Amino acid sequence: MKVKVSLKDKMEVIVDNWRKTYKEVINNYGDVVIDSIKVNQILGGMRDVPALVCETSFVDPYEGIKFRGYTIKEVLDKLPKPKGANYPYALGIWYLLLTGEMPTENDVVELEEYIKAKQKLPQYVIEILRNIPSNTHPMTQFSIAILAMQRESLFTKELHNLAKSDYWKPMLEDSLNLISKVPVIAAYIYRKTYRDDVFVKPNNDLDWAANFAYMLNPYDDYIINPDFQDLMRLYLILHSDHEGGNVSAHTCFNVSSALSDIYYSVSAGLNGLAGSLHGSASSDSLKWILSIIKFYNRLPTEEELYNYVNSYLDAGKIIPGFGHAVLKVTDPRYLALRDFVDKYKLDSDIFRLIKLLYKVVPEVLSARGKVRDPYPNVDGHSGAMLYHYNIKETEFYTVVFGVSRILGMTAQVIWARAVNYPIERPKSLTINDIVNIAKSKK
Ligand code: MLT
Repeated sequence: MKVKVSLKDKMEVIVDNWRKTYKEVINNYGDVVIDSIKVNQILGGMRDVPALVCETSFVDPYEGIKFRGYTIKEVLDKLPKPKGANYPYALGIWYLLLTGEMPTENDVVELEEYIKAKQKLPQYVIEILRNIPSNTHPMTQFSIAILAMQRESLFTKELHNLAKSDYWKPMLEDSLNLISKVPVIAAYIYRKTYRDDVFVKPNNDLDWAANFAYMLNPYDDYIINPDFQDLMRLYLILHSDHEGGNVSAHTCFNVSSALSDIYYSVSAGLNGLAGSLHGSASSDSLKWILSIIKFYNRLPTEEELYNYVNSYLDAGKIIPGFGHAVLKVTDPRYLALRDFVDKYKLDSDIFRLIKLLYKVVPEVLSARGKVRDPYPNVDGHSGAMLYHYNIKETEFYTVVFGVSRILGMTAQVIWARAVNYPIERPKSLTINDIVNIAKSKK
């Protein structure tokens, strides 16, 4: 099926212009040195090495994520909202990431309708999921289901008949197909792994994010819960993109640079998201918070919490949900979730403890020194939100993160094909090479 949304026409114009800019940059500045690289950085996860290009978003160490230049607050204020909702259509962020333009209500509604028309899951995907043992991690199930759909890829089917300049078009169509199906897949994984194995059919009256909330059906009551749907809209916007260097986005981007299609690339990106230092930190953080409440059998006092956190660090453990590779302030995504808690007057010991940790942990970490960023990140708050709405199976939280991150991964890959970004192939060195180079420079 060909893309019928006006998004495609808009992209055609934007891509054309951007390609010219890209060529000009290569021609005019191709040999300009942007930065140098230290041995520490090569051996330290390439921290702060400006070696990637990403148009969709930028993480400012002090201001946090900017989606196409817009802060979270601006995005939440400016993106169109469904009638009666307090938070915007989550697909609005995809439109913004792709085009760089704030969508009108009409743009988003058209996109939502287009996505709805494609959301029916192929029967083989349901069968594959049914045949995976239920004790398989939900992220593994998610990645398998997406990889299984690779046979649907228009990009792979058309690749050898296409001009290079047209590669992005089937990539966009594949992405629309994938985005329409991921909430249905994720919700079914939830139902079959933790609940009654009943496949909750999508509700065509609901927008993409609200429909995901509905299909998860966390109270088993099939009731449309407007607060939970608003949380899902917010959650899916906040986690969508975090520039190009995070593990999920970069893995996806790297795999796609070999001209692997969106199913191969996104499935690979999700495998990275599954790691404890990335998407599953949300689950680790909530488990840690629950373990503190269990330890005291109540909310600890501030003093008790100081002692608890200090002993935890003394034992050589890492506090989940705090610190970030780029940020040097509290993650604004964390603050946006906290605002939701205040707006909806959500109250529980978990939220009270999160507030207390916000005070105690940065102080303890800073007092110990050598901490680049002692403040909480989004994972320090996100699990508690899902838990509050009765999704208590913490392993599933990374899947919800994944549904959102697919928006950013697809937008980045479509753009990579639009500007004909080449296969990624950095040079590697042995430690002896590094020593020899270092000695010759000293
Ligand atoms: C993310 O959202 O991808 C995480 O905060 C990790 C990162 O940005 O490196």
